[in-house]
Amino acid sequence: MVTLMRKLWFGAALAIGLVSANDPQAAEPRYSSELDRRVEKFLGAHRSRWRDMNVPEVDGRTLRDLIVAKNFTRALEVGTSTGHSAIWIAWGLSKTGGRLTTIEIDPDRHRVAVANFEEAGLSDYIDARLANAHELVPRLAGPFDFVFSDADKSWYKNYFTAIWPRITAGGCFTAHNVSMRTGGIEEFLQHLKTVPNARTSIDQQSGAGLSITCKTGS
Ligand SMILES: C[S@@+](CC[C@H](N)C(=O)[O-])C[C@H]1O[C@@H](n2cnc3c(N)ncnc32)[C@H](O)[C@@H]1O
Repeated sequence: MVTLMRKLWFGAALAIGLVSANDPQAAEPRYSSELDRRVEKFLGAHRSRWRDMNVPEVDGRTLRDLIVAKNFTRALEVGTSTGHSAIWIAWGLSKTGGRLTTIEIDPDRHRVAVANFEEAGLSDYIDARLANAHELVPRLAGPFDFVFSDADKSWYKNYFTAIWPRITAGGCFTAHNVSMRTGGIEEFLQHLKTVPNARTSIDQQSGAGLSITCKTGS
């Protein structure tokens, strides 16, 4: 079922240009290095242990595949929690030579995330910040070609408006849980419709709703 859903997503992503059929990595990524085995071992061991509002595996995989397919290298995550999505993102960045900055406000979750990054062998690809993203995000210089927003939903629009000018052409702003019908999400989705040079799709493989908004021009 999951394989079928992934095939359907890849077909849709291909149709709207999120991935390219000519990109050999997009078509058939190779995950056979020593690091790949270490990450897979970590994810396998932790599969049923994510308890801190972490993304489902299928959404983590989608983020990784998007990064590899688009060759993104400058990534930002808002809302690390204990690091599940960051591990998938950083795994993708290990293929592109990129790096992730990820922000978490809760000291305990931040500490666990840093330990997880170490155990997964991905610390070199991640700059984990303990901070309030409301304050830090507007101060980050960028540029970014990939953003994953997964912290406080009421602030999604603010994160987007702060970061969008610092996203390069072709780059994408992704956001989790957009199927939630909270005021913040509605406002965020409405705002996306008004942004020039932006194309949004919503991936529903997990049911949480993963919006992917890519910049079509400068
Ligand atoms: C849904 S969880 C993130 C899950 C994570 N992306 C994963 O898949 O493992 C949201 C996280 O955002 C954090 N958060 C909420 N408001 C924040 C803020 N203003 N600044 C930084 N982090 C924040 C919460 O503490 C929580 O750990």
